[in-house]
Amino acid sequence: MHAGRAGRRDPTLEIESPVDPASHRRQTREAYDRLAAVWSATTDTGPFNGFLERPVVRALVPRPLAGLTVLDAGCGSGAQCEWLLDQGADVVGIDLSPAMVEESRRRCAGRGRLLVADLAHPLPLEPRSVDGITCSLALHYLRDWDVPLRSFASSLRPGGWIVISLDHPFAPRLAHQRGGYLDIELVSDTWTKAGVEVTQRFWRRPLAETMDAFADAGLVIERVAEPRPSSEALARFPLELGPLVGSPSFIVYRLRLAA
Ligand SMILES: C[S@@+](CC[C@H](N)C(=O)[O-])C[C@H]1O[C@@H](n2cnc3c(N)ncnc32)[C@H](O)[C@@H]1O
Repeated sequence: MHAGRAGRRDPTLEIESPVDPASHRRQTREAYDRLAAVWSATTDTGPFNGFLERPVVRALVPRPLAGLTVLDAGCGSGAQCEWLLDQGADVVGIDLSPAMVEESRRRCAGRGRLLVADLAHPLPLEPRSVDGITCSLALHYLRDWDVPLRSFASSLRPGGWIVISLDHPFAPRLAHQRGGYLDIELVSDTWTKAGVEVTQRFWRRPLAETMDAFADAGLVIERVAEPRPSSEALARFPLELGPLVGSPSFIVYRLRLAA
């Protein structure tokens, strides 16, 4: 059970983890280092990121952004950093994978501050130094969200916002998933992108765990969006996105500091 939530209504079963957190992070970093060179090319105009998840993340980012400082946490190869910079924001991007950060630097061409950092440790940011935070599909690589969410909360200026996307907790079961909906489990999935195959391990958890983690960090939910394929996206990727019509894949939250 989560250390900060003793006495919760029902115990949540945690499926025994096959790896310790440090080796899990090393495996995650190595896999993303391998994917870095192909990440932009395969995700920017790919069905799941480019046409499903990113449009909804961006729709939930409050505008205008000109003159604001925005952190992109788990920035990958810099798609979101580039978009935020193009909107006029001053951007800090962080990622666990040095190769991803290198790709972000190349993509942003000298704009923004792009750093290697691990969300499992407090962020290298001054308290109350950012106006907004985006974090796309990165938090589920961490079992414990106390450190990243409290770090997000303390680095926000009053009135600041956080947009977080995650795999949807009601998404169809993965092939190797052993537990049920109420379990917290390190699951795995194998992807091949432009000939690079990796097996990624990430945590799935029931909805209440996510809600409690937000609340424990002093964050309140302002909006929730459940991306669905647009007709343009469906026409372009019928095989990939057709099965997702009416079926949850991602979930996106906009959070604010509790008053
Ligand atoms: C699914 S990719 C998403 C990348 C980017 N946000 C995007 O949407 O294209 C997940 C990213 O999270 C990063 N990541 C995973 N664990 C992390 C950690 N503990 N600290 C920082 N970044 C992490 C990975 O290196 C990877 O770049």
